[in-house]
Amino acid sequence: MIPSHTVDEIKNRIDIVEVVSDFVSLKRKGQSMWACCPFHNEKSPSFSVSPVKGFYKCFGCGKSGDALDFVMEMEKLNYVESLKFLAKKYGIEVQEKELTDDQAQQQSERESLYIVLNAAKEYFTSTLWDSQEGRAIGLSYFQERKMTDAILKKFELGFVKDEWDGFYTHALKNGHTEEMLEKAGLLIVKENKKYDRFRGRVIFPIHNVSGRVVGFGARALKKDDKPKYINSPETSVYVKNQVLYGMFQAKQAIRMAENCFLVEGYTDVTSLHEVGIENVVASSGTSLTEGQIKLIQRFSPTITVLYDGDMAGIKASLRGIDMILAQGLNVKMVLLPEGEDPDSYSKALGAEKFKQYLEDKKEDFIHFKANLLAQEAEKDPIKKAESIKEIVSSIAAIPDAIKRTVYIKEAGDLLQIEEQVLIGELNKILRKKTKSSNYSKTEEAVPVTLQPSEQEAIWDPIEIIKYQEQESIRLLLEYAHVELDQETSLQSYLLNELEDVEFLSEIHAEIFNKFREELGKGNTATIDYFIKNGSPEVRRTVIDIISKKRDISSKWKDKHKIFVPEESEKSHLERTALTNILRLKQRVVRKMLEDNIERLKSVSNETEQTEIQQIHSELKKTETEIASLLGNVILK
Ligand code: UTP
Ligand code: MN
Repeated sequence: MIPSHTVDEIKNRIDIVEVVSDFVSLKRKGQSMWACCPFHNEKSPSFSVSPVKGFYKCFGCGKSGDALDFVMEMEKLNYVESLKFLAKKYGIEVQEKELTDDQAQQQSERESLYIVLNAAKEYFTSTLWDSQEGRAIGLSYFQERKMTDAILKKFELGFVKDEWDGFYTHALKNGHTEEMLEKAGLLIVKENKKYDRFRGRVIFPIHNVSGRVVGFGARALKKDDKPKYINSPETSVYVKNQVLYGMFQAKQAIRMAENCFLVEGYTDVTSLHEVGIENVVASSGTSLTEGQIKLIQRFSPTITVLYDGDMAGIKASLRGIDMILAQGLNVKMVLLPEGEDPDSYSKALGAEKFKQYLEDKKEDFIHFKANLLAQEAEKDPIKKAESIKEIVSSIAAIPDAIKRTVYIKEAGDLLQIEEQVLIGELNKILRKKTKSSNYSKTEEAVPVTLQPSEQEAIWDPIEIIKYQEQESIRLLLEYAHVELDQETSLQSYLLNELEDVEFLSEIHAEIFNKFREELGKGNTATIDYFIKNGSPEVRRTVIDIISKKRDISSKWKDKHKIFVPEESEKSHLERTALTNILRLKQRVVRKMLEDNIERLKSVSNETEQTEIQQIHSELKKTETEIASLLGNVILK
């Protein structure tokens, strides 16, 4: 906990313009400052900051708040973390109350590590730029690899001479201790010998997400120097499974693109920046860990993996991808020609062609895998059974039941297998997972919706809300133009009413935004429109919504009181739309209530408990309001 006087000090010190300016460049216009919104993609600025009121608001996406909210949203930090973030920015010392002596010592050790690592980075960069040897060897090496000065600076790349104690001596002279140098992994102490870990190499500093150097990768200059890279060991600030190379330099671009490219090597990252692709991180040659996936997820719902095209490599890495799916990320793949990595291929094609290549070859992972397996199975029918298991195990990893349904359909088409067979397999795997705990019972909900007669459906608020979202989209797709009265079409009515609803499914949100955008231009987004202009995911979702509607069993609908409009008669349509809106809101509120109660279980401090209780009663009030409105509509 941060003591309250420190919180006050931080809050008093905050200047919203300063805080926001660290992320976007603001221009003054009248009372306010303006920029393109960092939270959504736009070409002309609708994001404004009021220095006087201490608030920001985006007129495009509606996000608003004070400086603290901004940091929370931007850095995806919680309240306390954001306070600390700002404290660091303003050099305010945060003495956390409940730090034990041990913790205090660990913290100060971490601080010391950062300091010595930063000193090392400074040493390596100044050796590169300011020493004769650095320029002659290091800089020429980078230049030969077509790396520009701007990128070298951006990634703070460096060079170290081939000496046993160059850095070590320098560091001691500057007051660093041997103990810290060793702890930071910079000095190797063996029996009675001491020497620098990194010698005669070019240096890639590794930054954590907030930009502090936590370690280094040092690349050999000659082909026969082994190993190719010498890396820092794990330390208390460099926990390897939590760090991704390039994340600090990429996070803003990842957020804007809502996509993160994943490559293997340091130089793949720097090369993509050279061609203007900044939303890229490297796994440093290993498969992603859970911590790294979570890190990506803070900034983006989608990850696009760039693979080089050798078969053995692909098959080995496919397995690792199930874990990415399991965390709920969308996974796309781009296969590079055999023998090429992103570094070599981006250079071979040049910026424009390379970007086009990524755009053209980008493929949904499940689709990619099913295709691959289908090709194999065609050659070797005995393999078919195995292929089915493999693809279904990937699909089973996906936590979102609706997504699973879509993929099962697709895989069925691609592998030419009855959907039911795949569903059977899927259920087997899901059940196994249920037994080995971790997975909740709700996991089986989707296959259930497809086989309503055979199994009991399970209440899963998220699925129900998503279904209701789909129904709203369906109304729009089918009846957008219908005039409810002289001034209001169904679409303007529905879109207006759903203004404050946050959609659970990103794809649904995307579709809704398209409706809004088109309506803003005086047009209507039709089914045709989505099929022509939508991303593959949007297309799939729209088609699915249109085609699936009658598949869902009425039993399941009744059970969960899902409101599916049946009538297309105009007089009924208004009620249908309103009911739909209210049902959706009702569900969202219920879900919020549940989440809120869930939160209550995990907090112990009183202020937070009170806050949760307040939220609870607010939500309850809203729920009652909606219920009474619904009652009126239905009774009418
Ligand atoms: P690569 O061998 O593909 O290297 O290893 P690279 O990044 O493309 O480097 P260049 O282009 O040949 O200079 C991919 C990643 O695996 C890790 C590094 O993180 C590297 O970037 N690696 C590789 C090591 O840690 N040690 C090694 O000896 C080799
Ligand atoms: Mn390479």
